[in-house]
Amino acid sequence: MSYLITGGCGFVGSNIAAHLIARGEEVTIFDNLSRTGATLNLGWLESLGKFSFIHGDSRNPFEMEAAVRRSRPSAIFHLAGQVAMTTSMQAPRRDFEINAGGTINLLESVKQHIPEAAVVYASSNKVYGDLPLDLEECALRYQPRNCPDGIGEAAPLNFQTPYGCSKGAADQYMLDYARGFGLNTVVFRHSTIYGGRQFATYDQGWVGWFCRQALEILRDPAREPFTISGDGKQVRDLLHVSDTIRCYLAAVEHIAAARGMAFNIGGGMSNSMSLLELFAHLERRLGIKMAYRRLPWRLSDQRFFVANNALAAKVLGWAPAMSKEEGIEDVLVWSQAQSV
Ligand SMILES: NC(=O)c1ccc[n+]([C@@H]2O[C@H](COP(=O)([O-])OP(=O)(O)OC[C@H]3O[C@@H](n4cnc5c(N)ncnc54)[C@H](O)[C@@H]3O)[C@@H](O)[C@H]2O)c1
Repeated sequence: MSYLITGGCGFVGSNIAAHLIARGEEVTIFDNLSRTGATLNLGWLESLGKFSFIHGDSRNPFEMEAAVRRSRPSAIFHLAGQVAMTTSMQAPRRDFEINAGGTINLLESVKQHIPEAAVVYASSNKVYGDLPLDLEECALRYQPRNCPDGIGEAAPLNFQTPYGCSKGAADQYMLDYARGFGLNTVVFRHSTIYGGRQFATYDQGWVGWFCRQALEILRDPAREPFTISGDGKQVRDLLHVSDTIRCYLAAVEHIAAARGMAFNIGGGMSNSMSLLELFAHLERRLGIKMAYRRLPWRLSDQRFFVANNALAAKVLGWAPAMSKEEGIEDVLVWSQAQSV
């Protein structure tokens, strides 16, 4: 097998690339290195083994086309993207050009050169907008009264915020190129993916970001409180990146059945957590006090999103394996190693 990973120097991409390089697969990475930490991830991958790196921008159709033509992969993981809702509010055009435009550039190149290739796209739970759930407000979290197994793919699409629109447009183009042009595309709608090599920021990668805050409090208990948006009771399901890797490989393996389909992919109900529950866990684990200050809610911040993985289990034979406790431990170990 040969693989092209757009955004392969990012968090998810570098973890998938490392796995494939270790297996001795032929890997090409396409990345413009715009993300904080992308250059560090590239250096880390270079220390692991052989692969091809193309420094290119998905917004440029010629660079995207050349990457597809030169690498001619059997499978593509399309992960290059503008990843933060907040950034999309500041620069909606740039967000659109990267997420929607970059995806069209990739799809057109695949259609022209390698229509048989499997193409897996990292979409977002944001395509569902503010879900109409009947929520109970508990002490540490919101809990839905009407969806015990999480959100399935039948939830209505409802694009909100520029990020939701651009990811949603790319998501729909992916599915449409399967219908209209016979491409072998698959869409994964993710909520929270976490793990090592995520250079988390205040705007993106909340598990990694708050683990870092916890480690800083451990070093300096008197530091200024950090900030959170909203009341901290918002819930997501945590999917460790090792489970994410297995999911992408399962899509390629089962491409005949999965082509043209969108899947909600997450850690599932047993791996769901609110910000306040994460803080309580970190306080117990590290013996610290997570002192924070509240800011207003972010636009379109779902109070609850947990993926129902039933369709992925049925079609891809996939289910998450790592518990949230094990995964958070992994993030703490990785973050600690970064800060020494
Ligand atoms: N991490 C999550 O929790 C999560 C949740 C939902 C969806 N996703 C999606 O998964 C994908 C990967 O996420 P991630 O967390 O690894 O993000 P990331 O920011 O770590 O990685 C994205 C990579 O894409 C590169 N990139 C950005 N714009 C580019 C462009 N125009 N051309 C080429 N390369 C470009 C960046 O340099 C970076 O290396 C993204 O599309 C993201 O929207 C991630």
